Amino acid sequence: MKHIVSGIKPTGSLNLGTYLGSIKNFVELQNSYSYHHFFLFIADLHAITLPIDRQFLRKKIKELAALYLACGLKQERLSLFIQSEVPAHSHMGYLLQCFTYMGELERMTQYKEKKEQAFEGIPSSLFTYPSLMAGDILLYDAEYVPVGEDQKQHLELTRDIATRINNRFGDFFTVPEPLIPKVGARIKSLAYPEKKMSKSDTDTKGHIDLLDEPHIIRKRIRSAVTDSGADIRFDREGKPGISNLLTIYATLENVSVEAIAARYSNATYKQLKDDLAERVVKELSPIQERYRELINSRELNDILDKGRDEALKVANKKAAKLSRKLGLGRGRR
Ligand code: AMP
Ligand code: TRP
Repeated sequence: MKHIVSGIKPTGSLNLGTYLGSIKNFVELQNSYSYHHFFLFIADLHAITLPIDRQFLRKKIKELAALYLACGLKQERLSLFIQSEVPAHSHMGYLLQCFTYMGELERMTQYKEKKEQAFEGIPSSLFTYPSLMAGDILLYDAEYVPVGEDQKQHLELTRDIATRINNRFGDFFTVPEPLIPKVGARIKSLAYPEKKMSKSDTDTKGHIDLLDEPHIIRKRIRSAVTDSGADIRFDREGKPGISNLLTIYATLENVSVEAIAARYSNATYKQLKDDLAERVVKELSPIQERYRELINSRELNDILDKGRDEALKVANKKAAKLSRKLGLGRGRR
């Protein structure tokens, strides 16, 4: 059976950007790729590449697992697990570092941005992060990797590493393809429409978290920064605020931005915001309800145990196989 793999870092509260750019897509892919098995993990090893409080991290790992499920993922053909509980990820990450070049890592945009946030020296793990991520994907011979636009560069590097190893050892890894949603791959902050709505931002004014209460959602959308003029049309350059709202709306409705723009072409900004606020509340209410049932449940732990055991089987085998190819240890006995 072919595999689809993706991960999310538990570095903050899940927001509408991650939901629309990644999780919602994932839920839909489960229906359209009905012959694939899905490995989905909480990327806690990636979360410690910059200092993070341990209690905060613990809380976010659990929260993220419950939210993933609450968003509608189905249990069949799914292994949901926590990355650090499958040690082959660290192992493979190291092996792949031996096949990743400094020049490649130096070119990564996420590294260039994130290293500015490190104030006590830049951890080397921040630099080698893409090799760990390549390992996450290649361990499972993923055919597809659903991610947002910001991860495209990491995926390209993963493909280069896989090809490099295949050239040396014959067809060893499946070379993965990114699956980037056409709409929703770049949701911007409601307060600063030029910036991505990011989990790691401390300024949350422009965010909607998946667990925000309805009155907060309404307030945030009503106070979203809009552009001068009063006409509603999709124009990312000239009207970044309105274009972001239209993108959010279109992604929720699974229609094109043009279709939403046409629906509101004679409306006011206020009408668009009021309707969008209700649409977001309608989307998130059932998710929040299911989340509350799951967060402290036995069910959640059982699902994570099952996911871990399934992932261990596939990942250990692949990591051991590469170790053997490289001549590590005593080989097969
Ligand atoms: P992260 O929150 O950085 O761990 O990202 C988790 C996944 O969500 C990745 O696939 C990202 O590409 C995607 N993602 C995160 N933020 C956004 C956003 N503002 N718009 C669209 N996709 C996003
Ligand atoms: N690097 C991704 C991010 O910052 C998270 C991630 C880690 C990931 N490993 C992955 C995504 C493997 C897809 C596949 O969002």
